[in-house]
Amino acid sequence: MASSSSLGSTVTVPKVKLGSQGLVVSAQGLGCFGMCGSYGLPKPDPDMIKLIHHAVDSGVTFLDTSDLYGPHTNEILIGKALKEGGLRNKVQIATKFGNRVIDGKLDVCGDPAYVRSACEASLKRLDIDCIDLYYVHRIDIRVPIEVTMGELKKLVEERKVKYIGLSEASASTIRRAHAVHPITAVQQEWSLWTRDLEDEIVPTCRELGIGIVPYSPIGRGFLAAGPSLVENLTEGDFRKSFPRFQNVDHNKTIFERLNEMATRKGCTAAQLALAWVHHQGTDVVPIPGTTKFENLNQNIGALSVKLTPEEMSELKSFASSDVVKGERHVYMQLTWKNSETPPLSSWKDI
Ligand code: ATR
Repeated sequence: MASSSSLGSTVTVPKVKLGSQGLVVSAQGLGCFGMCGSYGLPKPDPDMIKLIHHAVDSGVTFLDTSDLYGPHTNEILIGKALKEGGLRNKVQIATKFGNRVIDGKLDVCGDPAYVRSACEASLKRLDIDCIDLYYVHRIDIRVPIEVTMGELKKLVEERKVKYIGLSEASASTIRRAHAVHPITAVQQEWSLWTRDLEDEIVPTCRELGIGIVPYSPIGRGFLAAGPSLVENLTEGDFRKSFPRFQNVDHNKTIFERLNEMATRKGCTAAQLALAWVHHQGTDVVPIPGTTKFENLNQNIGALSVKLTPEEMSELKSFASSDVVKGERHVYMQLTWKNSETPPLSSWKDI
């Protein structure tokens, strides 16, 4: 197992089983979303390739992307990183389909013909024969999930995909999908300030033996840097549009409490936020996103931050509902009225 030095400790990144179908991944993954824009300007490819190589050398082998990131350029970047490093057999590649951009507008599509063409295009961009974990990125409620899953099942039979995941799906969608073909992982936002999945999604996944992959475990950076992150967001950083990032005066309290406790424990606020997610269970594999070596090392170091039940409760109390103001995602504000958006029965299905 690989090791990484952080805050004076040597941390080994263990391998864990994700879900019940045989997928084994590193206990912490790498979210690659921020590398190709969205969080500010795209970062130079050579730097990101070095970062991906460093992650894999350090034991972080579970790489998370989507055809939407870029769009497309993030998958191409990962494909290059794998090729240049000869890394295909050392990594677990997770990518996603379902969000496509038409005339500059987002459209969610789970139509079987689209599922197949999206998969083939992702394979090409990633320059691999098989996707380890293929997620439905958002649920198209115009197409029954059974129909989308039927095509995914065929892709597994054809060995173009090894395991299937869902992202941002409701508990009932997870159950229906799992009845067609076993779901290996559900990816959902989960962090100290985003805990809405704990009521239904987490128990459903546990009942069905589905692994949980929290994205934005550091609150898109807010739990690492608080107000200073928001003050320094550059033009075009899409976090500016998020309701939570527009209520900084209110929401800074959670960061201040977290930071104060991190100082007491001798770690960083980002590490403490991440450690809280890691402590949710061995079936939980967060994928913090970073574009920096130092932050990657720190995040690996979070695996060595131990929390007592009392500390877990203290952390939980920082994020009670009155402490966090504003929805977690701009999607929450979309409604049927926007003719460009698909018919949304519930934000949970976006
Ligand atoms: P997402 O899943 O959406 O990428 P996240 O993992 O919660 O969200 O947070 C990602 C953000 O946190 C990024 O802005 C990242 O910035 P860098 O690319 O500059 O690293 C920031 N981040 C990640 N790890 C961090 C750390 N250890 N300390 C400070 N900021 C960190």
